[in-house]
Amino acid sequence: MEKPNSLPFFLCVIVLLLHVSNSQATTSRDSIYHTFLQCLQSHRNQQDHFSNIVYAQANASFTSVLRAFARNARFTSPFIQKPLLVVTPVSEHHVQATVVCAKSIGVQLKIRSGGHDFEGVSYVSQAPFVILDMFNFQSVTVDLQNEIAVIQAGASLGQVYYRIWEKSKVHGFPAGACPTVGVGGHLSGGGYGNMMRKYGLSVDHVVDAKIVDVKGRILDKATMGEDLFWAIRGGGGASFGVILSYTVKLVAVPERVTVFQVDKTLEQNATDLVVQWQQVAPHTDDRLFLRLVLQPVVKGQKTIRASVEALFLGEANEVVTLLGKEFPLLGLKKELCHEMGWIDSVVWWANYNDGSSVNALLDRNHYSVHSNKRKSDYVQTPISRNGLIWIWKKMTELGKVELVFNPYGGKMNEVPSDATPFPHRAGNLYKIQYTVSWQEAGAAAEARFLSQIRMLHSYMTPFVSKNPRSAYFNYRDLDIGINSHGKDNFQDGQVYGIRYFKKNFERLVKVKSEVDRENFFWNEQSIPSYPIKA
Ligand SMILES: Cc1cc2nc3c(=O)[nH]c(=O)nc-3n(C[C@H](O)[C@H](O)[C@H](O)COP(=O)(O)OP(=O)(O)OC[C@H]3O[C@@H](n4cnc5c(N)ncnc54)[C@H](O)[C@@H]3O)c2cc1C
Ligand SMILES: *[C@@H]1O[C@H](CO)[C@@H](O)[C@H](O)[C@H]1NC(C)=O
Ligand SMILES: *[C@@H]1O[C@H](CO)[C@@H](O)[C@H](O)[C@H]1NC(C)=O
Repeated sequence: MEKPNSLPFFLCVIVLLLHVSNSQATTSRDSIYHTFLQCLQSHRNQQDHFSNIVYAQANASFTSVLRAFARNARFTSPFIQKPLLVVTPVSEHHVQATVVCAKSIGVQLKIRSGGHDFEGVSYVSQAPFVILDMFNFQSVTVDLQNEIAVIQAGASLGQVYYRIWEKSKVHGFPAGACPTVGVGGHLSGGGYGNMMRKYGLSVDHVVDAKIVDVKGRILDKATMGEDLFWAIRGGGGASFGVILSYTVKLVAVPERVTVFQVDKTLEQNATDLVVQWQQVAPHTDDRLFLRLVLQPVVKGQKTIRASVEALFLGEANEVVTLLGKEFPLLGLKKELCHEMGWIDSVVWWANYNDGSSVNALLDRNHYSVHSNKRKSDYVQTPISRNGLIWIWKKMTELGKVELVFNPYGGKMNEVPSDATPFPHRAGNLYKIQYTVSWQEAGAAAEARFLSQIRMLHSYMTPFVSKNPRSAYFNYRDLDIGINSHGKDNFQDGQVYGIRYFKKNFERLVKVKSEVDRENFFWNEQSIPSYPIKA
């Protein structure tokens, strides 16, 4: 079973550290506002007006600013510790001054872009903290001549896709399916989507980046050096600095793509479908992404519904012929396929079943916020028919937890596992995402659903990767190890670090120790720096 989080212990240690190591530190809420503002003013440029960008708890719009990009209702309850301040920079210089001041005052800095962290790590902490909220950094500049885009960290993926589409119908970018996800977390932590088998991850297309480091300097690829540039393409930005922007290479998309969804319950032989899916989805044509969603449902009786959701970078006739041969149990017919432009496939994949137009991709509040918890696993050998039947039984008993199988293969097999910090390349057939979402309020409901997802994850042990049992960093999961020693997190870091990054963890620690030796940029699952010997 999982190691329980020792939160009370965690809290004590942090508060203690803060008092010991920072004589200037103050946890008094009124004075922190003035202290922080004064510090910012002392670093001002001619045009800077800091009083417009700092929200203390007493400010009328504090709660709405805090909640605007808090995308998990588990972390918006009144019992959750609030930041001392939310700083909402509008210029790069604001970001530099915020880093310098948080460091000199001795408060923890949490960086938020899209706020989609599954454990709220960008906007919750047990230590006294300040949020640096990047939502004003939303510009996406597309340069078709060079087939690149400069994307600011606070942009959403929907904005990225929309701005590319405005300029070209035959260019796209491989990133996540959910348009409200932020670039700052998504790209710094890997970023995968339905073009992964053709083009790999988002980070495989990053050609430059701009970051504010712990000294408040703005660095780009040339000045940050190869190691740091490597680290912020999958190792998470928040351990290394504040990402201002990424420059990415665009990819080619055909004028017409095809999407479809096919559902089958157990009574319709879903088990055979899943057996065949495992043989086909990780090995088929790179242009084809066949996501498999498995949900416990009641259809007269309790059953499992298996849904195959697909994107094919080509026309319907071709994919119908291909799957007729490779995946006959799917029974794909031309009538089930929808041909459309790439951007419309983005809207389709976003589950905007409400007739939304392409403009909806710009809407950052399109989804309502529920409570949720996610976990992840990697599968390297197909699960047997009997294994699947046993899993269905467990899922039906639990009742609420869903599994999503995302097929790898294609380009994912070609990129070396140390090319970026993201280590899950060749040898992985698919990734499992565990998901449970709920609307019921209260601790009892939360405890029930968290226990369900943890149980299913535990039942899955025989079927998934081992030594380490690996996990996807961007599917943040504090169950797999939490930093309970604050800045001094070297021991804790080994636990989650190996599972997210495997052999790449070592290089991440080395980079971290070079660029942020004192571990100013730390959080619950940050990359630790080598212990400083007294
Ligand atoms: C509904 C939903 C769908 C998702 N779908 C996918 C998917 O299809 N594919 C996929 O790969 N992932 C997916 N994810 C996971 C997503 O990629 C991660 O949660 C990602 O980290 C979110 O980025 P963010 O900027 O929105 O989050 P935030 O909560 O703002 O940040 C996440 C982490 O990154 C850090 N960070 C944020 N901005 C910066 C910055 N500018 N500089 C330095 N550090 C920063 C934060 O401090 C935090 O540690 C999904 C998440 C959700 C909630
Ligand atoms: C917060 O409140 C202070 C004091 O009333 C005010 O001066 C400041 O402008 C407010 N900040 C914002 C961002 O509105
Ligand atoms: C399920 O499989 C059985 C055995 O192969 C077959 O006879 C039956 O027609 C299938 N049912 C459906 C709904 O496809």
